[in-house]
Amino acid sequence: MKKIVKNGRIFTEAEDYQADILIEDEKIVCIGKELSGEDAEIIDASGCYVVPGAVDVHTHMDLDVGISRAVDDFYDGTVAAVCGGTTSIVDHMAFGPAGIPLHYQFEVYKKLAEGKAVIDYGFHGTAQHVDADMLAELETMAADGIPSVKAYLTYGFRLNDADVLQILRKMKEINGITAFHCENHDVVEFLKQQHKNEGKTAPIYHAKSRPNLAEAEAVDRVLKLARLADDAPVYIVHLSCRESLEAVREARRQGQKNIFVETCPQYLLLTEECYQREDGLKYIMSPPLRTQEDCEALWDGLADGTIQVVATDHCPFNYGKEKQMGRDDFTACPNGAPGVEERLMLLYSEGVAKGRITMNRLVETLCTKPCEIYGLYPKKGVIQPGADADLVIMDPNASGVITHSRMHGAVDYTSYEGMEIQGGIRQVMQRGNVLVKDNQFIGEKGAGRFIHRKPYTGE
Ligand code: URP
Ligand code: ZN
Ligand code: ZN
Repeated sequence: MKKIVKNGRIFTEAEDYQADILIEDEKIVCIGKELSGEDAEIIDASGCYVVPGAVDVHTHMDLDVGISRAVDDFYDGTVAAVCGGTTSIVDHMAFGPAGIPLHYQFEVYKKLAEGKAVIDYGFHGTAQHVDADMLAELETMAADGIPSVKAYLTYGFRLNDADVLQILRKMKEINGITAFHCENHDVVEFLKQQHKNEGKTAPIYHAKSRPNLAEAEAVDRVLKLARLADDAPVYIVHLSCRESLEAVREARRQGQKNIFVETCPQYLLLTEECYQREDGLKYIMSPPLRTQEDCEALWDGLADGTIQVVATDHCPFNYGKEKQMGRDDFTACPNGAPGVEERLMLLYSEGVAKGRITMNRLVETLCTKPCEIYGLYPKKGVIQPGADADLVIMDPNASGVITHSRMHGAVDYTSYEGMEIQGGIRQVMQRGNVLVKDNQFIGEKGAGRFIHRKPYTGE
């Protein structure tokens, strides 16, 4: 079935023009003026913006964190994602039992996602230990469509510097990308214990236990290890503060290549004042929310290109249930917050409509760049002939208020309740199928496909 998206204003990372888009067999086949086709269904995008389906390269669907499990599975979570304009995700697989090979979790995750995901999906590997078998397996994971692995510098399966160096060397050899959760584990654990000993167990002490410099030190360390590994590609997830940005800028000033930086809407828009609220537990995530100064620094970093990607780190736990585990002690609260549905709306409203970033930059950071970095481009993340027909039709003149009752995930809150929003999403298409119309999901459970990603092609 042919479709033509007519009269929309198309934005790519570099362009802004009025044209029609002809879709056939799940792909964009032609872009031009006044396209027609007798047998084509017409989708009217007059007065609207048309952007590539957004891609979220940092989600945690169905994440098992030991004490609890993220409440969005691959169905609820991907329905929420697509209702917010995200048409592909790359999910970070959870830690599994100690000593497992990387493929163990891949098999687990295939079963979690198959038959449930409503949009296309890929996975990042998760490093839990390093030895010769694991290093060899990084190569077979890449051959199986997973050319990226995440290493944690904190939490139970954190890696030491020698482990990190070995992974970076191997990933450089096989053109893979290593993503890092950067926080100095010993500093964080020491401060958590100190606060607990002093009876300081309220949510604000989550933030006070994870200071900016504990993150920036770890970012700086990872960057230097990557440099030692001959500028191995390195991707910093959920960067949250000014000092970490400075570490990135300094490394680039020294000439280091292949550095990629991600932040998330919560670090651009929310501050640690949230922890002082009655419902402060909702915002327990790592790294924690920072100050207004940090938010402004991140917006500047996004506008000037220091930051390449805005993802979400979507990791939802119900406030009414799982988050209450931290009621008397912030260290017992599962870490993470929802956000997969709100991202595009927030970045348009708070970013583009308020003049902080351009529409091209929005497309670059939410759609194109994450695909280039993680091997989904040019199948995803771009509007051009040959690409999958993953499109979002946005009405820049709509307005509304973010409220939980209009959201689609399984979690019982949104971190942005009551926020006024400029712009709205009219329709979302994946591979030419309309999955969302006027905030209603009309797609099919299990229609999402695994994306076999390609190796990193270099800066
Ligand atoms: O608090 C967070 N961010 N939870 C999800 C896991 C992670 O660290 O990315
Ligand atoms: Zn993390
Ligand atoms: Zn995460």
